[in-house]
Amino acid sequence: MSEKKVIAVIGATGAQGSGLVRAVAADRDGPFSVRAITRDTTSDKAQVLKNLGAEVVSADVDDAPSLRRAFQGAYGAFCITFFWEHFSPERELAQARNMAEAAKLAGLQHVIWSTLEDTRRWVPLDDQRMPTLMGKYKVPHFDAKGEANRLFRELGVPTTFLLTSFYWDNLIAFGMGPKRGADGRLEFTLPMGSKKLPGIAAADIGKCAYGIFRRGPELIGKTVGIAGEHLTGAQMAASLTKALGEEVRYNDVPPEVYRSFGFPGADDLGNMFQFKRDFEEDFCAARNVLFARALNPSLQTFEVWLAENKSRIPIEEPRAVGNY
Ligand SMILES: NC(=O)c1ccc[n+]([C@@H]2O[C@H](COP(=O)([O-])OP(=O)(O)OC[C@H]3O[C@@H](n4cnc5c(N)ncnc54)[C@H](OP(=O)(O)O)[C@@H]3O)[C@@H](O)[C@H]2O)c1
Repeated sequence: MSEKKVIAVIGATGAQGSGLVRAVAADRDGPFSVRAITRDTTSDKAQVLKNLGAEVVSADVDDAPSLRRAFQGAYGAFCITFFWEHFSPERELAQARNMAEAAKLAGLQHVIWSTLEDTRRWVPLDDQRMPTLMGKYKVPHFDAKGEANRLFRELGVPTTFLLTSFYWDNLIAFGMGPKRGADGRLEFTLPMGSKKLPGIAAADIGKCAYGIFRRGPELIGKTVGIAGEHLTGAQMAASLTKALGEEVRYNDVPPEVYRSFGFPGADDLGNMFQFKRDFEEDFCAARNVLFARALNPSLQTFEVWLAENKSRIPIEEPRAVGNY
């Protein structure tokens, strides 16, 4: 029988969770073992995690009893919601409640809640600088996560609140990479003006989460923000130019133009970038690169990430930005 403490990982086959599963599995002599939670234990992705040594267990964040079973006997859990699967902040709130209640019932000793700011603390609903969306949000996929923080607090779940950053991987999978303009030259579009965007390699989020579990009680009740680097659009374009061997221009568009791009969620993302731009100081201050590197010494910079991933960035075919 293993004496190791079990960390249950929601979203284990996804961008954030899989990094954590891999980090725990790679630390063979460490104090933890990992329970990967998926809706389909027979999928190829689940098989990969099994082969790494993870226990693979079925649960759905919409199904409270399944979560209770999946958390049973565990020491800790990584909790996350999946806004872009359903575009519903209310559903994220219900899912966060399910996870917080299951964590409480299972008596977990340490939970990481992957969260983001409730932007309404900075931009109240009656503030006209950006439109109110879905009736009561400014940045729906941020606000519900921030609102859900209190569910973990109110239930007394021993939680570390993990503020994540923009995945550089969005340049690969979600159409946010450079595209050819009408003149055939590459453009990298971001509505950030000259302000810095905290970014991170998605795989590093899970590694930082593992660092949080390793530190244990000292980070319970705390909010921890992570990023690989804080970069302006111009700096990102310069790194892309170097990596791709072809000039990439920074195409700074106003948030209202970004909101009008028309893909599902464009208004949410336009507001999100505007929030990051207009509150750059607070947003960057909440995401400490040095602390992230202390949690995860192999934390990648944008240039290191690009060296590894540049060939995966689709640039020839113009694609709709979306599904971020
Ligand atoms: N993209 C960014 O830059 C960024 C930055 C910060 C935060 N975020 C946030 O990150 C969240 C998504 O995380 P991610 O990128 O790690 O997700 P992801 O890569 O899309 O993976 C999500 C995984 O979760 C599982 N899943 C989906 N619905 C589920 C459900 N109802 N119950 C249980 N598991 C479910 C799926 O696994 P199975 O199919 O195996 O069940 C899937 O592999 C979003 O809420 C987003 O707002 C994104």
